[in-house]
Amino acid sequence: PYPIYARLREQTPVLHVPQIGVWLVTRYDDVQHILKSPELFSSERTAAIDRLRDPRLSEGMELLASRSLVSIDPPDHTRLRRLVNVAFTPRAIARLERRVRDLARELVDDIVRKDSFDLMEDLAVPLPVIVISELLGVDPARRTEFKRWSDDLLLGSRLDGHLDDAEIERIVASRREFIAFFRAMIEHRRREPGDDLLSDLVRAEAERDALSPEEVLTMAILLMIAGNETTTNLIGNGTIALLEHPDVLPRLRADPTRIPGFVEEVLRWRSPVVMLVRTTRRDVAVGGVDIPQGAVLGVLVDSANHDPTHFAEPERFDIERQSAHLSFGYGIHFCVGAPLSRLEGRIAFEELVARVPEFSREPGPLEWTPSFNLRGLKRLPLRRGAPV
Ligand code: HEM
Repeated sequence: PYPIYARLREQTPVLHVPQIGVWLVTRYDDVQHILKSPELFSSERTAAIDRLRDPRLSEGMELLASRSLVSIDPPDHTRLRRLVNVAFTPRAIARLERRVRDLARELVDDIVRKDSFDLMEDLAVPLPVIVISELLGVDPARRTEFKRWSDDLLLGSRLDGHLDDAEIERIVASRREFIAFFRAMIEHRRREPGDDLLSDLVRAEAERDALSPEEVLTMAILLMIAGNETTTNLIGNGTIALLEHPDVLPRLRADPTRIPGFVEEVLRWRSPVVMLVRTTRRDVAVGGVDIPQGAVLGVLVDSANHDPTHFAEPERFDIERQSAHLSFGYGIHFCVGAPLSRLEGRIAFEELVARVPEFSREPGPLEWTPSFNLRGLKRLPLRRGAPV
């Protein structure tokens, strides 16, 4: 998409696409302006988006997505955000380092024993799912179900999906299971609180009456899904970056302190989240273009991250870049999980780079997950050893 973004940024930085009822915003400054002005641009999920979905998929969407932290505005957003912030401060996250390291080691141990492996299945998918399950206090052994539930949730939210009846029934059933599972877990914590995030949410509900029961459920589900596919894709896209830029791996191996810079550049170069959605609260101009109230904006952080007014030679992969990418968003909705995913990304690559000194791709085309707003691979079959 990068040549297309470049053309849009130069010629039509705010493009109205009436067929899907969306205005696409591609320049860095406009994207940043929108994200830092919640009083003009709302995060509430809009009727316009729901219209594009199969109506049978609206069941449970209120709970699963529409009323969650990402899709609400102040003052509710301010209240809920304060509650989760404490769990995700850099200090709180730093305490997880040893556990994330042990998990990454176990996963890479299995990789090292094999001649060929799937980077996604063997490392990028399980690591974030296990970490967030343990944080929330739900059984990581059920991670195959978590993965299926969160995939199905995202699948049903796809705007471009053509789903047949059987597929829709399966998704609806899967959502019911997802909600029922978390309702039961929360009920259990109300009786027997423990030392985990779910118990903290339940305590906030009881002690300060700061959260409603529905908000506890919605928050738990959001935390379960928000960080999985995104962090998975960070690890997958980072591995592609290594394969496409063979000079980088030896540099990281020679000096692992370069890995955090590498992770930031991966986030910028191939943002796991391509687009954010906002709705205009009133008539407003963006980049000199008049947009009516109630318009849906497709805010392309992926394009902003390649805007040459902010990044010299944006297509070049440069781990030394002092980048201010927008891959975690900006402003009040800035990703709560950013310190956690940075930790997971850094440790995954530290282990991979140290222990799998050479790897190459199995022949065949790359298989991307079909999605309009997330970028990542379904599979990434690799072989140990240099390319032949
Ligand atoms: C919000 C990206 C990992 C939890 C966001 C937003 C972005 C984002 C772009 C802003 C959404 C908006 O403004 O509409 C990413 C990426 C990740 C990642 C690229 C990994 C590389 C995580 C993890 C968690 C998480 C690991 C939790 C464990 C959240 C939550 C929000 C959020 C709860 C909502 C914050 C709010 O609305 O105030 N994320 N995320 N994310 N993210 Fe992440």
